[in-house]
Amino acid sequence: MELKNLLIKKGDGVGWITINRPEKLNAMNIETIEELRTAFGEFGGDPEVRAVILTGAGEKAFVAGADISEFIHLDAEKGREYSRRGQELTATIENFPKPVIAAINGYALGGGTEFALACHVRIASENAKLGQPEVKLGIVPGYGGTQRLSRLVGKGKAMEMILSGRIVEAAEAREAGLVNTVVPAAELLSAAEAMAKEMIKNAPLALAYSIEAINQGLDRTLPEGLELEAEIFGRCCATADFREGAKAFIEKRKPDFQGR
Ligand code: COA
Repeated sequence: MELKNLLIKKGDGVGWITINRPEKLNAMNIETIEELRTAFGEFGGDPEVRAVILTGAGEKAFVAGADISEFIHLDAEKGREYSRRGQELTATIENFPKPVIAAINGYALGGGTEFALACHVRIASENAKLGQPEVKLGIVPGYGGTQRLSRLVGKGKAMEMILSGRIVEAAEAREAGLVNTVVPAAELLSAAEAMAKEMIKNAPLALAYSIEAINQGLDRTLPEGLELEAEIFGRCCATADFREGAKAFIEKRKPDFQGR
């Protein structure tokens, strides 16, 4: 996969996507969004990739936001399209059927926080800084921030962050539940890899179904969510991996999951 704005690699079941515009603090231009769509599409269909880690190149930024130079001329109609394009990608990441981990290695502002919010888990380095500063530019978060931030950290914290545009340090982000864990910068990628490897030991379909149940359940009432869970649990019971997992437990050995 040859892409201009991304570095891609894979190994040991993990696919790595590094946004690579460090001279612009990895600001997300439209070309990068299209490339991310391609990268997730390829990793989605690649059986060798069972989890994805998303990070930014350089020591300063994960993603310092959407590329401001590209949206300065938008009008109402084009602005809506611009927002929808980014939202489609964040939805692809959110519903990706394999675990996606954001390794936040510095500034994650605006679209950077929104891409991290779409990932299933967020690990931040101690120097990470997150925020939704869009109101400072006269706009609102447009890649899902007004919706996903409040679902993750609650309405009060989301209101505070979005209305102030304030940048929060990693420790505050962890306290708010915005990131799962914080590690020293030098350990960020190995911590993300260790988490990915812990996840991919598990049955691939059970991972995909868990993501589906959690994501879809959040849009439903509790009884509807529980109905969905039972339906998905039933689907798991029909898989070869469930039979293998249960048998391996009884036989006191490691399961050999095939994703079937
Ligand atoms: N869009 C376009 N370019 C960006 C960018 C963005 N979101 N964020 C940073 N850059 C560019 C800068 O313009 C600069 O480019 P230049 O060297 O050609 O002038 C380069 O990245 C380095 O950024 P700089 O501002 O010089 O670094 P800094 O350390 O002084 O400040 C930030 C870092 C993150 C505080 C600052 O870059 C910033 O506020 N960025 C915008 C954040 C934002 O509002 N994001 C939300 C957009 S919706």
